[in-house]
Amino acid sequence: MNPAVADLPARRERSTAEWQAADAAHYLHPFTDFKSLANKGSRVITRADNLYLWDSDGHKIFDAMSGLWCVNVGYGQQALVDAATAQLKELPFYNSFFQTATPPAIELAELLAEVSPESFQHVFFSGSGSEGNDTVVRMVRRYWDLHGQPQRQILISRHNAYHGSTMAGASLGGMSDMHAQGGLPIPGIAHIQQPFWFAHGRSMSREDFGLVAAGWLEKKILELGPQNVAAFIGEPVQGAGGVIIPPSTYWPEVQRICDRYGILLVADEVICGFGRTGNWWGSETLGFRPDLMTFAKGVTSGYIPLGGVMVGERVARTLIDQGGDFNHGYTYSGHPVACAVGLANIRLIQREGLVERVRTDTGPYLAELFASLADHPLVGEAQTLGLMGALQLVRDKSSGTLFDPSLAVGMVCRGHCFGNGLIMRAVGDRMIIAPPLVITRGQIDELGQLIRRCLDLTLTDLRTRGWL
Ligand SMILES: Cc1ncc(COP(=O)(O)O)c(C=O)c1O
Repeated sequence: MNPAVADLPARRERSTAEWQAADAAHYLHPFTDFKSLANKGSRVITRADNLYLWDSDGHKIFDAMSGLWCVNVGYGQQALVDAATAQLKELPFYNSFFQTATPPAIELAELLAEVSPESFQHVFFSGSGSEGNDTVVRMVRRYWDLHGQPQRQILISRHNAYHGSTMAGASLGGMSDMHAQGGLPIPGIAHIQQPFWFAHGRSMSREDFGLVAAGWLEKKILELGPQNVAAFIGEPVQGAGGVIIPPSTYWPEVQRICDRYGILLVADEVICGFGRTGNWWGSETLGFRPDLMTFAKGVTSGYIPLGGVMVGERVARTLIDQGGDFNHGYTYSGHPVACAVGLANIRLIQREGLVERVRTDTGPYLAELFASLADHPLVGEAQTLGLMGALQLVRDKSSGTLFDPSLAVGMVCRGHCFGNGLIMRAVGDRMIIAPPLVITRGQIDELGQLIRRCLDLTLTDLRTRGWL
């Protein structure tokens, strides 16, 4: 053994303090204030099984966020481990450039077409959701070039959308703190307001608001000139923005508007895909027919990085029949090990009937739980779709008055969740969950008890601070 390696303490024998010191010395984490984390010390997660994580102090934690919205089949699935191991032994890497392919990439493309609506027969692989959205930008602009309309450059997206962290992904996203760093957005991206009823539409019914919010798209198209607009992109349900579930009228009206002006419609399915909403794709649940669908996360349940774009026939036929070389791709497009894990993951979802279970059993059961949490004094709105849920914390329940954002009440609640072995995310004052699709009714009961306890502790805490 390399003597330098022999000198290292065995991995699991380091104490939490030792892990934290090494982490602070060398590791720059994503979306993190490096200095403040180095002072505080990160929480080190060392193992996981089913829905549960364990940290380096041996605490057991209920992971109600599926890692980062990705571990759809839960942790510890041997079929995925076996698929990766076998593929690593047989062919750990070969690329798909230069007119080559590997069996797992071909088979996964086939299987993805099988679980997608009929109009999707082709896929372009990437290594992540962000890269998938970069591919979308290249692809829709190429599509319009090939149709003799090169001036159709603009992609319209929404404020508070999240489409990743590459230059194009962050530009498509509508996060102002991301735009503030690095000179974003890149040219040719425009944003409209999000369909967030609680924030922007409470003076009207949800259904009326859905039509109004879709109308903002038409207004923007007319302002920019329909002849200049290439595509509209949206998450069926905004995830990182706070599980913003749009009114049922929203997406069908967006579809009508895109059809009217001939504009391509792109669903970013990175969170909603692979069963999260009770169908294979969120766009199926929300009633629209996109031309392109970005995916990542749930395609491998996060066991290994993989992403891509499902390419509908309208775009695929143009690229294939008239396109010539498409000058775009990644070293890891169609990575054989990632694709082998993707195959095992999708087959497992099929075998266990997880999508149907979310639609007919666990999704409705979670909805009942959230309906019961709506009576809590801190909760102004409780919403779910499939296995995604959001609790909007409010200062005054009867009027729906929000807390002063500078108090960061969501972070106070998140602190109580962590302290009680529950991972629930705070987006402003929205507390959100997206548990693994293997969650049982019994585990949903357990989740409900944990959430209620954390809300109660938050309430007491806020009263003690004099914030209520
Ligand atoms: C809707 C959506 N699109 C894109 C991304 C970016 O994916 P990745 O982090 O794999 O690049 C995310 C990540 O959370 C996402 O939620």
